[in-house]
Amino acid sequence: MDSFAGRLAVITGGGSGMGRELVSQLAAAGCSVAACDLNPDTVAETAVSAQAEAGPGVLVTGHACDVADEAQLLRFRDELLEAHARDHVNLVFANAGVGGGSSFVNGDRAEWERTFAIDWQGVYYTARVFIPLLVAGGDGILVNTSSVNGFWASLGPGTPNNAYSTAKFAVRGFSEALVEDLRVHAPGVRVAVVMPGHVGTDIVANSFRARGLPEIEQMSEAQLEEVIPRSARAAMIRAGLLAEDASADDLRQMLVRANADFRDKAPVSAAEAATIILDGVRSGAWRILVGEDAKIIDAAVRAKPEAAYDYAELFGGLAHQQAAGTAEQ
Ligand SMILES: NC(=O)c1ccc[n+]([C@@H]2O[C@H](COP(=O)([O-])OP(=O)(O)OC[C@H]3O[C@@H](n4cnc5c(N)ncnc54)[C@H](O)[C@@H]3O)[C@@H](O)[C@H]2O)c1
Repeated sequence: MDSFAGRLAVITGGGSGMGRELVSQLAAAGCSVAACDLNPDTVAETAVSAQAEAGPGVLVTGHACDVADEAQLLRFRDELLEAHARDHVNLVFANAGVGGGSSFVNGDRAEWERTFAIDWQGVYYTARVFIPLLVAGGDGILVNTSSVNGFWASLGPGTPNNAYSTAKFAVRGFSEALVEDLRVHAPGVRVAVVMPGHVGTDIVANSFRARGLPEIEQMSEAQLEEVIPRSARAAMIRAGLLAEDASADDLRQMLVRANADFRDKAPVSAAEAATIILDGVRSGAWRILVGEDAKIIDAAVRAKPEAAYDYAELFGGLAHQQAAGTAEQ
């Protein structure tokens, strides 16, 4: 697929971040887009702004949908086929996702299960609902977003990432299993799996919202306690990241800062990530790593699988290799 012009793309999680940028870059390339999001307002804004930038013959629509609920995805499918007057689609980006469920051992079960439902079942139901429409088009591509946590199940020392990693491993496994399955049973359709490192988006704040929490500024003390449990608070105080007498307002400000830092201090912007993803799709790649951090972690884990969770060994060895490489040049 070297041109997106005249085609129809479906994008989940199109209200923000990489999803929003995919919508706008595809529309600018002459591709019609049906985007959905849990947040109807943000996806409506995405559609309006992408439509305004698009050329003639391009239609961009925004739809409300929770991808963890198959019935809502079926409704989204029916709405978009009617709105775009088509009987098939050409590209499907299963991009919607949230962070959460950091600890299985110590964390809240409902948060673990909601995270897993969005990050795994959302991708699974998207494939169930849309693969038949890709097959109906004769050629097409399914692009599933996993993560570096799809091949490395941690965020580093002291930072478990349990539900998210479990789901993202499942997304990568499912996508890899589809490579041969599609080759045999639907040769016109292919799959690609996207594994981003740190990309600057509002995923921290959006993940709270997807768990039914209000905007950070409106969180009650009980909700702050849910987001930053006492044990995490104590660890932050010990690490000097939080004052012992921090008020509820201090905690709200800290969360707002954490979201802004995650977005603004990332090595790759959401727009750059979307460009890398679309270049990967055009090139025919089935495995799309986004960012140098993703490439470094991928190489390190492949070189030393047994050291994947021995961080000093994993990255220390890599630093040595890089230093040696630099010295040799
Ligand atoms: N940002 C990163 O550093 C990073 C790294 C690796 C992987 N990812 C993955 O990339 C994808 C996009 O993330 P992003 O960083 O652009 O985040 P984002 O929060 O900016 O965008 C994700 C969008 O998905 C929507 N969403 C959440 N739950 C949903 C649901 N149940 N149904 C429909 N929409 C829902 C959100 O409302 C949001 O608009 C996710 O799958 C994420 O896990 C992100």
